Amino acid sequence: MAVARRPDAGSLCDSWLLSLNAMVSRTPLMPAITVDPCTFALFGALGDLALRKLFPALYQLDRAGLLHADTRILALARDPGDEGGHLAFIDEHLRRHVPAREIDEEVLQRFRARLSFLRMDFRDAQSYVALAERVGAGPTLIAYFATPASVYGMICQHLAAVGLAEHARVVLEKPIGHDLASSRVVNEAVAQYFPESRVYRIDHYLGKETVQNLIALRFANSLFETQWNQHHISHVEITVAETVGIEGRWGYFDQAGQLRDMVQNHLLQLLCLIAMDPPSNLTADSIRDEKVKVLKALAPITPELLGQRVVRGQYAAGIAGGRAVPGYLEEENSNAQSSTETFVALRADICNWRWSGVPFYLRTGKRMAQKLSQIVIHFKEPPFYIFAPEQRSLISNRLIIRLQPDEGISLQVMTKEQGLDKGMHLRSGPLQLNFSETYKSARIPDAYERLLLEVMQGNQNLFVRRDEVEYAWQWCDQLIDGWTRLGDSLKLYPAGSWGPVASIALITRDGRSWYGDL
Ligand code: BG6
Repeated sequence: MAVARRPDAGSLCDSWLLSLNAMVSRTPLMPAITVDPCTFALFGALGDLALRKLFPALYQLDRAGLLHADTRILALARDPGDEGGHLAFIDEHLRRHVPAREIDEEVLQRFRARLSFLRMDFRDAQSYVALAERVGAGPTLIAYFATPASVYGMICQHLAAVGLAEHARVVLEKPIGHDLASSRVVNEAVAQYFPESRVYRIDHYLGKETVQNLIALRFANSLFETQWNQHHISHVEITVAETVGIEGRWGYFDQAGQLRDMVQNHLLQLLCLIAMDPPSNLTADSIRDEKVKVLKALAPITPELLGQRVVRGQYAAGIAGGRAVPGYLEEENSNAQSSTETFVALRADICNWRWSGVPFYLRTGKRMAQKLSQIVIHFKEPPFYIFAPEQRSLISNRLIIRLQPDEGISLQVMTKEQGLDKGMHLRSGPLQLNFSETYKSARIPDAYERLLLEVMQGNQNLFVRRDEVEYAWQWCDQLIDGWTRLGDSLKLYPAGSWGPVASIALITRDGRSWYGDL
């Protein structure tokens, strides 16, 4: 799998690429994946998530030969109408959400043959009798809940009543509750019928290829591990910026806000993967134990610190993607009084030996200047400085991990500018690995493809354990309580920008700036 050397090879950058390629080619070939058959029952099969993400992911698994010949997919929803109509609707969406070049008519036919629709009211016990008949004595049942979390417990109870819970796995979509108390209610209700070992809580960021690469990058390269602490790292940035607005999800989003929708799960998971200690092996619980330790070590952001450490924003009208877009309060079905945040920037501190004194700056928002998810690790300056004083500000190594788009990893290093007239002029340049360019032949799978495959294989590594969800809520709850108590005001930002000015002040106050903001 070595990548051809570029004709202009010879630079430092190439040697980096070549060494990585060498590492790739030395890795023994993985055994071919074998996936057991299952009956995949999708609750909420006509909802947005199922149509946009889950059916396309199942189709891609089929296309990659990763669905067992006996795997069946049951689409479950309570919508009236005949089976044929619903299947045609699913088909139509599949074609819309899978790139045309990846539509293979033969695979599509096979996929359709696996798929059936059952109309059922999730609250009605009789519906589950019909479901049990349809499932029969088939292989392992995987019940995927693409429904509100408030009905997870009830579905589990009904599944158990008709004898379907015994060996089944349940997959729970986020958000699990809207605070610690409500998440406990949901988790408790599910736990009455399913042991933790058969519960798969989705955080789709954990299925992203580059997010999984964080584990490889950190623990397969001793180069980084020795540097990965407060002696060598000055601070860490995690940015998850979106250009989309609310996209018809006002009802849900206005109750949640960006902190609950993105920070409580995706951003804290990324923070955990960056900050955790090396697990002793790759089993799900070893990794999750380490993540939990990080969550437990997060310093609370007390009301006294809120003003300095957290910024809540809401987008106003502006220009995004070259067109005028409305503000949050002017979106369809909006409530003009809403004070829900669409942006959060905060400074988190981890109280342990490894990270003491290393701030983690997190920011995420809707309708921002660019779609960008990126982690930047800023290394400390050298302990003693020997170059021209005016170049001092240049000196700092950064490791940039780009999650999306243009997945890749880049290490900013200092080199000397070339040329007789340049003396010891320094410049910062990247040693980079761009996944899509370097591994051209390999398609980067969508996060849901990976996650569904892992559920089918009974592997919980990429799923969130109950205590992780609950510790993450606990930390967010104290922040939200502070906001409520102080009546924290929202800072407006124009759509298409990098967020409120206050979010720049949040980091410049510490003598730093957000990396790469234009
Ligand atoms: C979801 C949030 O979990 O993640 C959405 O509910 C958000 O509000 C989405 O838009 C972002 O996911 P991605 O994969 O597009 O970064």
